[in-house]
Amino acid sequence: MTTTDIAPRTSIDPAAAEEFAGRVLTIFDNAAAALMISIGHQTGLFDTLTGLRPATSRDVADAAGLDERYVREWLKAMTTARVVGYDPEAQTYRLPTEHAVSLSRASGPKNLAVLTTFISMLGEVEPAIVECFRTGGGLPYSAYPRFHETMAGVSGAAVDGALLDVLLPLAPGLVDRLRRGIDVLDVGCGRGHAVNLMAGAFPASRFIGYDFSEEAIGWARDEAAELGLTNAGFEVVDVARMRDSGRYDLVTAFDAIHDQADPAGALAAAFRALRSGGTFLAGDVKASSNLEDNLGIPWGTYIYTVSTMHCMSVSLGLDGAGLGTGWGHQLASSMLAGAGFTDVKVNEVEAEPFNLYYVARKP
Ligand SMILES: C[S@@+](CC[C@H](N)C(=O)[O-])C[C@H]1O[C@@H](n2cnc3c(N)ncnc32)[C@H](O)[C@@H]1O
Repeated sequence: MTTTDIAPRTSIDPAAAEEFAGRVLTIFDNAAAALMISIGHQTGLFDTLTGLRPATSRDVADAAGLDERYVREWLKAMTTARVVGYDPEAQTYRLPTEHAVSLSRASGPKNLAVLTTFISMLGEVEPAIVECFRTGGGLPYSAYPRFHETMAGVSGAAVDGALLDVLLPLAPGLVDRLRRGIDVLDVGCGRGHAVNLMAGAFPASRFIGYDFSEEAIGWARDEAAELGLTNAGFEVVDVARMRDSGRYDLVTAFDAIHDQADPAGALAAAFRALRSGGTFLAGDVKASSNLEDNLGIPWGTYIYTVSTMHCMSVSLGLDGAGLGTGWGHQLASSMLAGAGFTDVKVNEVEAEPFNLYYVARKP
């Protein structure tokens, strides 16, 4: 097919068409690189390379305890992606220190490689999502067998890096109150790492995590037991239907509102669960409710992709609102106000650039 087949009656700019074709090829190639980065993260290859001088594929494979043939092919992909440097004479590979900052676990919240695990997870549901385009509806959480593991990997890096030192201090006086001892509920807690981290840091406070995933709650309980925490508990609860009333001084929600079937119901339930004067602290995806404002976000396509293939879909799968990952701060703020919260503040946080942090109060 030629370009004239596509638009026979309009003239097209061949240079623009060619330039765009180049962009599509770059997208295609970068998508392949994302899969390889995900594998590099999961196999620990970036962590191995971070500690190595220039090394052959054999040396890298031995140091990582992996199969040399696969490691060699992966190194070639990472070389063509300009992630790894290659010396053709010595046939050695090297991960520049500047690249290791974004790719190794030692970098904590600066490790961006962990994000690519979402891309490969989404690939698993592509056939089912294609079917949703034809039939509408959505998918159950069970369609994503790796979801909780992947989510905990991504959020764990952010939480470890920022929760105690940056996020909790966003609410004035909260850290002091946590030190003295208050009641805290985390809704949609997933594998519960945020709850366990807070419980360890504030032994005088009492923490509960609710999630409707039995698998995730099981993990959360196991981690609390391993850490010997006596002030952290977890329950399988649909948070939009929870009946808790006036029980908590702090309710948190980390990336756990927009993908719910009934996000307005969940916010209303969080409001009801708080004591008067209590604080609601929620992290949710940094985006505007207006598409045009999101064009400048470097990971804007990712936001709408993860929405189409997970966050919107799991909500629609429960006949829910399907708000989507890019519901944005305007809609979030108005829904918080609609639930009864006052003094809603929307915070941007340098240490955690993917989310906005909402601090609100129950009057
Ligand atoms: C995007 S994950 C975030 C998990 C966790 N807060 C984190 O940051 O890792 C959203 C979580 O909300 C849970 N969830 C969704 N709808 C829920 C509901 N109605 N009641 C309880 N949990 C729900 C999911 O099972 C999932 O664990």
